[in-house]
Amino acid sequence: MGEATTDPVRLPPALQIPKVLQGIGFVVNRDKAVAAVAKRYGPEFTLNLPIFGHAVVVSDPALVKDLFTTNSDLIARAGTLGEVLGPGSTFSLEGTAHRQRRKLLVPPFHGKRMKSYEGIVEEEVMRELATWPEGEEFATLPSMMRITLNAILRTVSGAEGAAFEELRDLLPPMVLRASHLAVLPPVARRDYGRWSPWGRVETLRRRYDAIVSQLIADARNDPALAERSDVLALMLQARYEDGMPIADDHVADELLTLLAAGHETTATTLAWAVERLRRHPRLLNRLTDEVDAGGSELLQATIFEVQRIRPVINATARITKSRIKLGQWVIPERHAIIVSISLAHASDRSFPNAAKFDPDRFVGNPPDTHAWVPFGGGVRRCIGAAFANMELMVTLRTLLREFEFRTTYAAAEPMHSRGVATAPGRGGLAVVHRRPRTVGVPAREVAGAAQVSA
Ligand code: HEM
Repeated sequence: MGEATTDPVRLPPALQIPKVLQGIGFVVNRDKAVAAVAKRYGPEFTLNLPIFGHAVVVSDPALVKDLFTTNSDLIARAGTLGEVLGPGSTFSLEGTAHRQRRKLLVPPFHGKRMKSYEGIVEEEVMRELATWPEGEEFATLPSMMRITLNAILRTVSGAEGAAFEELRDLLPPMVLRASHLAVLPPVARRDYGRWSPWGRVETLRRRYDAIVSQLIADARNDPALAERSDVLALMLQARYEDGMPIADDHVADELLTLLAAGHETTATTLAWAVERLRRHPRLLNRLTDEVDAGGSELLQATIFEVQRIRPVINATARITKSRIKLGQWVIPERHAIIVSISLAHASDRSFPNAAKFDPDRFVGNPPDTHAWVPFGGGVRRCIGAAFANMELMVTLRTLLREFEFRTTYAAAEPMHSRGVATAPGRGGLAVVHRRPRTVGVPAREVAGAAQVSA
């Protein structure tokens, strides 16, 4: 683990081009820029970026482990997501407050509880699949967005009826706008009136707050609150060690955090899964056979591999609170350290023949905790990792059960940054045909249900 030190500062080699150009390279194509620098300077280097200032980039599993296990008295989370989501969000909390909040949030997202959410996800997948056209090419990302948004809304907010529909319409534009502005300098997040970019986000946020305070009031008056399994109900009943509940404004920020963090990330991963599978016909057949036989080993390995080769979050960052020693480097106080998830995943040392999409590398061989880091790590590791994995498994299993995917020789889709998450540039194109024998809910029934609820 990283340790406090008084040794002289020793930083990895610095990129010798002006800060503005480094910033432009980073904004235009983070992955390409970072890969090019790593090729020239090796796995660790120092950048000088407009928002972060001087930042050390690491990707070697030993250093990633050192960083993720460094005591939180010495490092904090870096980045602007807390600013966007509010002071009551897990992303904004540090030290004891962060630890205590995580303790309250872990039970609702624990592996065992996931089983109870599977039915909701499958229902949402079937509702969406009923609308898929046969025999014509279409982008799957919008569908994946609807599936993951509806699933997270139902499991997390417990909203129903008008409140559910309003949140469903309000969240995507709010999250997309905020997510683009989150990666820009602070001036982009000032409210210059209702038509300014941040002013629009603030207007949507006020509407969100009004809906959520009504949801909280309704939940408090719900005689069946104790039996509810949605995360809002669990948060309202949770108590810190001193017996105090989470304050209402913090519940609203946290709910938004879970809805925002849990929707686009999973949807873009699903669109990448479609994009990869269409280009690997033999794998597609093996997966379909496995799903038909009730297995899941290759599917799980495929999900690991999609997340390795196309991580939708390409970096996570920490900031030093004091001078620390990390491997051979000595990093000064208030210095950013970026874990490049993309670089870590592209390492041939960690993943032989890393450029090849090869799910078999993970069959019977789960990924190493510090080489495979799509969910980050340490005390700030993604809270929703088990939820996301369950959603990915249920959605892909259902897709394979219901559809045959037409394979393609088309070039890989380019990476497209949506602000925080990276999506396939053409939206994860697919051509599907309904399989003759489907298991589970008959497609016609589901199509009917979709029309009623539309
Ligand atoms: C494929 C889907 C997902 C990916 C790739 C992903 C990725 C990440 C990453 C990289 C981090 C930063 C971790 C770090 O800094 O070490 C993170 C944090 C977080 N994620 Fe996720 N995430 C996903 C799904 C979800 C879901 C479904 C939820 C909630 C339902 C969620 C909630 C959170 C929260 C609350 C944090 C902040 C944790 C903290 O600071 O303590 N994420 N996620």
